[in-house]
Amino acid sequence: MHAGHGRASSALEVKGRFRRLRVALRERVASESGGEAVHVLATPCRATILLSALAVIAGCGPAAESRERLTRGHDLYTTYCSRCHQPDGQGYAQVFPNLAGNPIVKNRSPEPVIEIVTRGRADMPSFSEHRPDELADIITYIRHAWGNDASAVTPAEVK
Ligand code: HEC
Repeated sequence: MHAGHGRASSALEVKGRFRRLRVALRERVASESGGEAVHVLATPCRATILLSALAVIAGCGPAAESRERLTRGHDLYTTYCSRCHQPDGQGYAQVFPNLAGNPIVKNRSPEPVIEIVTRGRADMPSFSEHRPDELADIITYIRHAWGNDASAVTPAEVK
């Protein structure tokens, strides 16, 4: 009987301790969620989420910048190159080389393709009169288009 009584009283004690703990927790949660500190933390956080959502909608950021460069490169290619190499890069067999899948265009180092486009070669005219940023955009475009998956080229590399 003694042991039974002992167990009952310790169970009550534990219950009481739990109740005190729960009250303490409830008080802490209430003071934190109602307090200034939560607002101060939440506001910049919300602003960051809002700004990144706007950035995605407006289309800024590095991805959009490279999209813009590719669009410019595509337009310049259409103006200056496609009459010989065709809009799809295929060119004309035996006359104007195919640029799609072309190992010179896709080469890991962009130097050979930069060299050909700026200086010209045989019947390929020189484009050295064009601005480096335009040439960089064209070369970046042909290194990216038609399944070519080579790196982008900067204006500094073209100079
Ligand atoms: C008047 C026609 C013509 C125009 C315009 C032209 N090309 Fe070419 N391109 C050629 C010919 C011809 C060759 C082959 C040269 C040779 O015999 O080595 C060539 C070669 C190339 C090559 C080397 C491919 C290889 O396999 O040898 C690249 C890259 C290239 N052109 C890119 C361009 C780009 C980019 C433009 C526009 C800025 C352009 N070309 C405009 C005629 C042209």
